[in-house]
Amino acid sequence: MNKMGLDVAVIGATGAVGEVFMRVAIERNFPVRNLRLLASSRSAGKQIKYGGELLTVRETNEQSLEGVDLVFCSASSEVSRIWGPWCRDREIIMIDDGSAFRMDDDVPLVIPEVNGDDLDTHNWIISIPNCTTTPLVMALDAMRQVSSIKRVIVATYQAVSGTGAAAVEELISQNISLSQGIDVSTPESYPVQIAQNVLPHVDDFDEDGFTKEELKMRNETRKILHHDSLPFAATCVRVPVFYGHSEVVHVEFSSEISLDDLGSALSSQDGLVYDDDQTHYVTPLEAADSDETFVSRLRLDPSVENGVVFWCVSDNLRKGAATNAIQIAESLLERGILSGS
Ligand code: A2P
Repeated sequence: MNKMGLDVAVIGATGAVGEVFMRVAIERNFPVRNLRLLASSRSAGKQIKYGGELLTVRETNEQSLEGVDLVFCSASSEVSRIWGPWCRDREIIMIDDGSAFRMDDDVPLVIPEVNGDDLDTHNWIISIPNCTTTPLVMALDAMRQVSSIKRVIVATYQAVSGTGAAAVEELISQNISLSQGIDVSTPESYPVQIAQNVLPHVDDFDEDGFTKEELKMRNETRKILHHDSLPFAATCVRVPVFYGHSEVVHVEFSSEISLDDLGSALSSQDGLVYDDDQTHYVTPLEAADSDETFVSRLRLDPSVENGVVFWCVSDNLRKGAATNAIQIAESLLERGILSGS
């Protein structure tokens, strides 16, 4: 850890995103002076390696948070709703991975490559987008430099790690059971078995037959792009993949576009890799452990005027969560909004 640097608390340190957050912080040499690994009381006393050091997990409470410079939270909305206002009252920045505050007017919802300037008007809580929103908006933001976007239709293929560490364990154990000819025991992370299956159901059902995940994608995309009325429909699907979310995206533009122009715009987007070989594509397995968003199979959509369709993949735990959070913190440091005590 750095002698100069920040005192950082990770709420949800034992979870799927918390673990990746620590890995990314080390990889990017994020200036951590002291790291506090926090979780529920169930994990208190557990030891986790950070760099060369063995750190002890503590229960999340006022004592374990006292005096920190920065809080990263990836636990549950209930947990965020307790510690978000607590941080705000003490003027401590909390970067929140959950959906609790994303649509609040005074909470910036940020992908640094797209709308980093929104950080300048923070009110201590900063949200990162849902792990399906981030790669989509990275691509849309690049493409709107060519022509304004009229409509977006998206279908997702989401990995189980987006649900959390327990869902990863459940898919492993269902795969083992099935390979041994044993029936899968009662599913816990999902309404039905996920191994060898595909579920058009991510998060709870909400209004008009859409799920909350689908509405999150729509509302967050509109907020980040500052396009409040963007016509948008999503279908979010859980697939038996461990890491990496994939998306099929149909976009209509308000004027004529060419694949060359869109390809150039995609290639110019920081953090995005565009593959213009129309017979090649990037799979979630290949995207896992990368920070980039990968776009491939871009083609004209002959069923509409000025439309394209493409395939988009990213590591949901990295750019979809932990990496985006660290990039926000780096941007806060650069902007002088955040500094060590
Ligand atoms: P714990 O392991 O002690 O339950 P995931 O997204 O992989 O399911 O991880 C969720 C994370 O949120 C875990 O680190 C979990 O800790 C943490 N968590 C759950 N409940 C609380 C709580 N009440 N306070 C703080 N952290 C919590």
